[in-house]
Amino acid sequence: MLDLGCGTGRDVYIVSKLVGEQGNSIGIDMTDEQLHVAKRHIDSQMKRFGYKRTNVDFKQGYIEDLHSAGIIDNSIDVVISNCVLNLSPDKSSVFKEIFRVLKPGGELYFSDVFADRRIPERLKDDSVLFGECLAGALYMEDFRRLLAEQGCLDYRVVQSQKIEIKNADIEKKIGMVSFDSKTIRAFKLDDLEDICEDYGEVATYKGTIPEHPHSFELDEHHKFITGKPVLVCGNTASMLQNTRYAKHWTVMGNKTVHYGPFDCTSNCTSNSVTVSAAQDINSCCQ
Ligand SMILES: C[S@@+](CC[C@H](N)C(=O)[O-])C[C@H]1O[C@@H](n2cnc3c(N)ncnc32)[C@H](O)[C@@H]1O
Repeated sequence: MLDLGCGTGRDVYIVSKLVGEQGNSIGIDMTDEQLHVAKRHIDSQMKRFGYKRTNVDFKQGYIEDLHSAGIIDNSIDVVISNCVLNLSPDKSSVFKEIFRVLKPGGELYFSDVFADRRIPERLKDDSVLFGECLAGALYMEDFRRLLAEQGCLDYRVVQSQKIEIKNADIEKKIGMVSFDSKTIRAFKLDDLEDICEDYGEVATYKGTIPEHPHSFELDEHHKFITGKPVLVCGNTASMLQNTRYAKHWTVMGNKTVHYGPFDCTSNCTSNSVTVSAAQDINSCCQ
């Protein structure tokens, strides 16, 4: 696992525990002071987890150039990040690097600030707005385009919450732009399509993820109840079959027969295409 902009390492240590002693949790940050604090806790955290080997590594570097930080192609299972990508002046390079270092089937799982429109140029250099993680917030559709440039045609919103601006000065500056804090999953899969398509595939969650014995939420619109079969679109089937989730799902069917677009009117994917077909009971995008 790789944490982009790990700061003082809180999430790196959480993942260190989750992946177990034989896993690896790497944090990258450009700020030495933050890394200094993160490294100070290595010994005590390893002791706390009962590990004989250190499974964390903190690297100084830039998220736009993971190569210089020694992160090689196709080497990472999961890239995480919390409130950092908005700060990057070169987001295109960040996504290029993420999809370079992820293994096939690997996952980008991150939280950040998103805007409902492009931030006006005159506000991009405003230090207050930048510090508040607003000036660099990604416009959702540009985020979709950046992923598409890397061959990722679908992403999933796990959680979304409107950000209330409670400061009158900031509110006045920012005008009509509205912001959301979102948690997103995007997978390095080469068979995702730009809208959901129906191949009649059916997915059943086995209930085998220890923290989720009764149900699992892939995203805001896909809550899988243990043992209950669900008709899913081709993209969802691929996300469940060709990733770290594979052993926890049974997916029946394949993509040999196409039944038309999958009804995603409730916005289960990154696109806003609306189809008119009546939604199946218990289908993936309810
Ligand atoms: C808002 S803090 C978030 C820290 C951590 N992810 C957390 O949730 O506590 C942003 C962090 O990103 C780092 N950062 C910002 N831009 C960066 C870049 N281009 N490359 C590497 N680190 C960066 C900063 O040094 C800072 O530690």
